Amino acid sequence: MEQLLQQIEEVKQEMAAFEATNNEQAEAFRIKFLGTKGVVKGIMGEMMQVPVDQKKEFGQLLNSFKTFAEERYEALKNGLQSAEEQSGATDFDWTLPGDATPVGTRHPLSLVRNQMVSIFKKLGFAVAEGPEIEDDWHNFTALNLPEHHPARDMQDTFYLHKNPDFLLRTHTSSVQARVLEKQKPPVRIICPGRVYRNETISARAHCFFHQVEGLYVDEHVSFADLKQTLYFFVQEMFGKEAKIRFRPSYFPFTEPSAEMDISCTVCGGSGCSLCKHTGWVEILGCGMVHPKMLENFNIDSNKFTGFAFGMGVERICQLKYRINDLRLYSQNDIRFLRQFTGAL
Ligand code: PHE
Repeated sequence: MEQLLQQIEEVKQEMAAFEATNNEQAEAFRIKFLGTKGVVKGIMGEMMQVPVDQKKEFGQLLNSFKTFAEERYEALKNGLQSAEEQSGATDFDWTLPGDATPVGTRHPLSLVRNQMVSIFKKLGFAVAEGPEIEDDWHNFTALNLPEHHPARDMQDTFYLHKNPDFLLRTHTSSVQARVLEKQKPPVRIICPGRVYRNETISARAHCFFHQVEGLYVDEHVSFADLKQTLYFFVQEMFGKEAKIRFRPSYFPFTEPSAEMDISCTVCGGSGCSLCKHTGWVEILGCGMVHPKMLENFNIDSNKFTGFAFGMGVERICQLKYRINDLRLYSQNDIRFLRQFTGAL
């Protein structure tokens, strides 16, 4: 008995010390210890000699001995596998193409806004920005829209606080007011930014949207300068064949005021559903800066004149990419956004 126990112990040590660096050596282990004529089988055969009252206990010992041998064999094989993996000697095909990393895309409004800004930069306009929460003075009063002026109803305002009035700016003309406050003419700026109006959300209206407004104040600035500036913009944005036309309009901060249409980008002017069969689509409001507004900033309106214009980025984007529902811009639907991969 004693002898048998000692023999088991020695074999265990031998197995534990056994090393295999290739498949043949692992196989040699299997044959030597686990084969039909192997050491483990041999020792199991000794069971016969064990007295009956010790057979149960001894049987368990032999079983765990056999398991030990099997586990050791598995460990040797696994060791070979992981060594193989480390050395790269597997059947992995390194020439397969890798997984592409998905790259985000710019939002269509950012693309168009950037393009608008770069066109006006070519004409020497600088970018000016201001706060989205405004006071009454910068959004209305300074722009020749005093309290109770009926034109205030043109823009449904979100008021945050009444008296003193704080509101969400309804146009980026508020930035023009902030610049004229600090800077003397010549002033040549564009004001891109988000604006808010209390409108019911639908395909054609939203409670927020984006504008690019422009202001040029200097000596001898004329309506002809305004027209040429906007014509340049339209041709850069929509191509050389695009035409423009002006219609008289009204804004409190400009006199005279106009709205500008461009020839329909879908039908080229022959008439379609986008232009409601007129051949023209409206894109902006503009005019010569009202003398009253210049005086509000202590600018001599006999010496200086200026023009201003304002347009919606969503509208330009709609004409450029044929987007017919304003809600798409803010729904974050990846199927919509993904279409602008590679644009600009
Ligand atoms: N601020 C006007 C609007 O938001 C647009 C505009 C700007 C019109 C400048 C004329 C001159 O509707």
